[in-house]
Amino acid sequence: MSDTAKKFYLTTPIYYVNARPHIGHAYTTIAADVIARRQRTLLGNENVWFLTGTDEHGQKVQRSAQAAGITPQQFTDEVSQQFRDLWQRMGITNNDYIRTTEPRHVHGVQKLFNELYQRGHIYLDTYTGQYSVGEEMFVEGPPGTIGPDGKPTETVTEENFYFRLSAFQAELIDRIEADEDDPKAFRIEPEARRNEVLSFLRGDLNNGAETKLSAKGTPYVPGALKDLSISRSSFDWGIPVPEPAASTTQKKHVIYVWLDALANYMTAVGYGSEDPAQQAQFKKFWPADLHLVGKEIIRFHCVYWPAFLLAAGLPLPKKVQAHGWLLFEESKMSKSRGNIVRTETILDAFGSLKPKPIGWPGAPLSDECWKHEQDLFASDVLRYFLLREIPFGQDGSFSFDALVQRYNSDLANGYGNLVSRTLTMIEKNHEGAHPGLTTPASDALAEMANKLAGSAIALIDAVADDFAALRFTRILTNISAYITEVDGFFSFGTPWKLAKSDDPAAKQDLRAILSTTAEAIRVITVLLYPILPCSTAQVWEQLGLGDIEAAARNGEFNNLTWGGLTPGTKLGPLGPIFPRAPKELIQVMTDAENTTTTPTPSRLVDEKANHTTAAPDESTHPGAAPRTSALPSDNPGTQVGASSAVVPELSKPPAPHTEAHASGVFSADAAAATPQIAIDDFAKVDLRVARVLVAERIPKADKLLRLEVDLGTERRQILSGIAEWYTPEELIGRRIIVIANLAPRKMRGLESHGMLLAASHGENGKPILATFAEGDDIAPGSRLR
Ligand code: ME8
Ligand code: MG
Repeated sequence: MSDTAKKFYLTTPIYYVNARPHIGHAYTTIAADVIARRQRTLLGNENVWFLTGTDEHGQKVQRSAQAAGITPQQFTDEVSQQFRDLWQRMGITNNDYIRTTEPRHVHGVQKLFNELYQRGHIYLDTYTGQYSVGEEMFVEGPPGTIGPDGKPTETVTEENFYFRLSAFQAELIDRIEADEDDPKAFRIEPEARRNEVLSFLRGDLNNGAETKLSAKGTPYVPGALKDLSISRSSFDWGIPVPEPAASTTQKKHVIYVWLDALANYMTAVGYGSEDPAQQAQFKKFWPADLHLVGKEIIRFHCVYWPAFLLAAGLPLPKKVQAHGWLLFEESKMSKSRGNIVRTETILDAFGSLKPKPIGWPGAPLSDECWKHEQDLFASDVLRYFLLREIPFGQDGSFSFDALVQRYNSDLANGYGNLVSRTLTMIEKNHEGAHPGLTTPASDALAEMANKLAGSAIALIDAVADDFAALRFTRILTNISAYITEVDGFFSFGTPWKLAKSDDPAAKQDLRAILSTTAEAIRVITVLLYPILPCSTAQVWEQLGLGDIEAAARNGEFNNLTWGGLTPGTKLGPLGPIFPRAPKELIQVMTDAENTTTTPTPSRLVDEKANHTTAAPDESTHPGAAPRTSALPSDNPGTQVGASSAVVPELSKPPAPHTEAHASGVFSADAAAATPQIAIDDFAKVDLRVARVLVAERIPKADKLLRLEVDLGTERRQILSGIAEWYTPEELIGRRIIVIANLAPRKMRGLESHGMLLAASHGENGKPILATFAEGDDIAPGSRLR
């Protein structure tokens, strides 16, 4: 965003009402909500406008309504409400919700049509061609051509109004090629999509046609961009072509659904309105700063839409950002494929995890409020997952398995664990009030604390840049890395030991550890707020800082720095924020998807069971994508389903597994009777220094502890049978020795990637973990040989 911009207007596509919402729609809406929340912290509440809505006209919708045996208006009322209800359930903060059947929109679209007509950009002509109903567009080819939706096109002979799209070829190329700081620039992100649009606009440069040069000196084939049909007369579910154009023909025409739909971005902020307040709104917010779209509708947003605006003499949006597709079971998630995942499934499953408030049911929340709290919590989980897992712009597979793993590793064990360890200790040892930043007495701790403050400042800057560039995955991996660093500091300091000491230096160190960690949590929480609005609100309350929403909107997050906690501030009531998700949740969600349990719109055909009678839908055929997206398979998709989400794969070939170690403890006794080995054999064993980051008991497994260890370059999960002898608390922060290249194995449904080294005396003697002396300066990941 440029320095001069004082407002931010962003939009999602308006979704077709012929399909129920699925997590593909939620993906765009979530991303937009994150951006809107971030922008509000920067610009203030009143200077941000976030629009979403539904696209309700066109042949596709008319046919869906017919199939359901109701009028198109009844049909659209019902489905539009479902989208709206879902966004409400998820706590989406859109400022407005536009429906293309609303009078304000109809009026604005007719005004735009007239503007184009009066300026001479529209003419009447007859055309015979192939029409794809699914994609609502004419396509080139003989009768029976397979359209972008994978279905044969229909031959349509129609007298139509045409828009002189061809006249805008050069100007569009120039605008797209313009430098970023040129006020006329029309930006398209990511690069691959920009190139796709430019190549479409330039035409075929290789067939010997005469070329011209753009302002930037790139060649294009004049005339390659054809005029566009912008009305239909064979059906009537649309906005009528207005006078005076209407009287130039006998037939009744409705405006092409894409011209109708795209105009929503202006009609929603007052274009075409006579009301002065609406006119002021249009003046304030147009042009849009960002249209967020899926990559399949890039041509409509980056060719047709700017051309309409140029023709009408209106400013172009600043930027169109395309994201990739959510894939499920290897292909684009979409209604006609029947491979959708409904957001409700995830809300219901994760909502059930949320810890009940004390005193509930009854007080302090009504049933309805409580249900909403559960939805908001679950919505946070989905937000985090989608933005963390799929680099924005690329395709990515969705899986329930990956969702549960990511939640457990990053939210339950990462952020949640850090908050709960820290605040519980402040509550116990500092009478529930912030101690105030203190310098540690110990040099090692002081150095680490100093480094943490420096890392926080660097993180704040990096996150700002990454938000501006919409690099959500990077934001979240950087925050995770910082959480690990803070966790390491906390564990290294062993505050639970210091708390038992009366030594003044120990007391000072304890104060320092708790105050520094709490301060780091405050910074992390502010940075995570746009992505986890509900959970960060809870952490904020537990920190004793009140209402995060108010803080965010009052500009308090604008100049985030280190050291904002006021000493003496009382903590709020503490409680768990991210309880661990049991593996069974995966099955619960899978089952919910297989048996459509969520109430379905009464008259909608169940698209999962019945594809054939459902209305034709969007581009889902593998061979179809090129029509709407010239680069459909330029990236293979980020796989997000593997368990590597938590435990990175071993990089070395695994050593043969020794069965004597079911406990996961390599006992020194076992070595007594072993035959001699050559040095090469020993070299095969990859022994590494590791630091324990997380240690916890495993429910119903008395002997096992689950550890996460820092191996220098990676974080590993290891299960170890030492629960009878070691408490989780005394392990956290310790440096131990692990066999890093042991083949992974499963215990109690969890994978163990390595083994700890321990010595034991006698049959049932306590194993003593091999470790290092205090003060030995040895980094995690170092090899033992
Ligand atoms: O195209 N992965 O509406 P639509 C990622 N009405 N995003 C997905 C997705 C998936 N599998 N499936 C849907 C239309 N989306 C027109 C838009 S705008 C003036 C008119 C998201 O219901 C993504 O944002 O087909 C995609 O562009 C949009 O929903 C398409 O919704
Ligand atoms: Mg679509």
